[in-house]
Amino acid sequence: MKLKKDEIEMLEGKRGLAVQRAMEFMVKYGEVLNAEEFVDTQNVCGTISNTTPFLDTLLDKFESFEHLVSELNYNCSDVKDIPRMNIFSCQLEHGLDPDTWEKQYVRKSKFEINAKDEDLSRRMNLNLICTCSPYLVGNLPVFGEHCVWMESSAVAYINTAIGARTNCEGRESSNCSMLTGKTPYWGLHVPENRYGHYYVEVQYPIESVRDWGLLGYYGGLIAGEKIPVFDGIKAKPTMECYKHAGAAGASSGGTEMMHVVGHSPEARTLEEALGGRKPAEKRVLDRAEMKRCYDLLNTATSGNVDFIMLGCPHYSLRQLWEAALMLDGKKISPNVELWIFIPRALREVSDRMGYTEIIEASGAVLMADTCPALGRTKPPEAKTIATDSAKQSHYMPGIFGAAAYFGTTQECVNAAISGKWEGTF
Ligand code: F3S
Repeated sequence: MKLKKDEIEMLEGKRGLAVQRAMEFMVKYGEVLNAEEFVDTQNVCGTISNTTPFLDTLLDKFESFEHLVSELNYNCSDVKDIPRMNIFSCQLEHGLDPDTWEKQYVRKSKFEINAKDEDLSRRMNLNLICTCSPYLVGNLPVFGEHCVWMESSAVAYINTAIGARTNCEGRESSNCSMLTGKTPYWGLHVPENRYGHYYVEVQYPIESVRDWGLLGYYGGLIAGEKIPVFDGIKAKPTMECYKHAGAAGASSGGTEMMHVVGHSPEARTLEEALGGRKPAEKRVLDRAEMKRCYDLLNTATSGNVDFIMLGCPHYSLRQLWEAALMLDGKKISPNVELWIFIPRALREVSDRMGYTEIIEASGAVLMADTCPALGRTKPPEAKTIATDSAKQSHYMPGIFGAAAYFGTTQECVNAAISGKWEGTF
């Protein structure tokens, strides 16, 4: 790789051992990717440790928590002191909510290691927003900004809806970018790699957030890690539409970006979305294909529901407000649990507006910082889950061996109240 002066200084250890080890890692990473150079970043979202499910079982094998984190993230065992970041960096979701962890059936050792993690994050200047949707609460990149983000739904969101540039990074690479401010110049950082590959003529009216989840799911199924281009959508997507489409595509395939002709910023025209090239394939997304995706996500058949999860990706303020309106004055069934996930920073608004009170009065629980898929936690006896997230519905059966229903938010709230699933396509 062609290295600049500051990159050579980091490699030579002139900025400390941790930065040196991080730069060594980045050079190896760049070489494997055939990148010729690095690009600077001032915006990293990652996690230092806490999403590793077995972390609490490792702790006594290391002399300190910091030592464990350096082993995990910088691929070395000689970094004992991790310096403060001077690159703007944010902590993504954690493995539990420190306020409601007992209701999440999380063991105490995980809660304790979470406290150590938060303490180290603070000392490292890693901003504890603790959400998979940083763009909702304090980290909203601009068009063309080079970012290093790790969470797949957020990656798809900022590439698609904003035109910021990031690949889907791992924990190690994002940690090394936090210390160096560098990432290999490859993948979606390069303008030519951002053009679409699969052309999809959309014949089904895409309107609700549920529809966008199905559309994104379809995109991931057909395009894998390539970029789908959706053409023919009339209704203007909201932020939540992009949020759910990106999350779904990143779970059924490896979607890191999609184009929505006439709507997303790098697809003002079809020609712009394709970069003037012919698409590798053409497909039609009609009612039958939407229904096929819906059926793939609806693996449950019993008609009964015992766990409802809302907030994947973490709910926006608009979604929280909608859910609170739906639950106002209602009681959920004694046979179900309803967990609603938001970024912690929105709890303040929720409390002020009385949404928290409404949700708790219904018997539901408002949670932050994590989710069932990430925290590997759900009500122990729950066998059938309902959710308005295609992503969560995709992962739940695999993670928990539970069957899932996927539908609109209203259908999920209805199921929480009755204990029965009555959603339809
Ligand atoms: Fe976020 Fe968990 Fe979904 S991390 S995107 S709520 S799977």
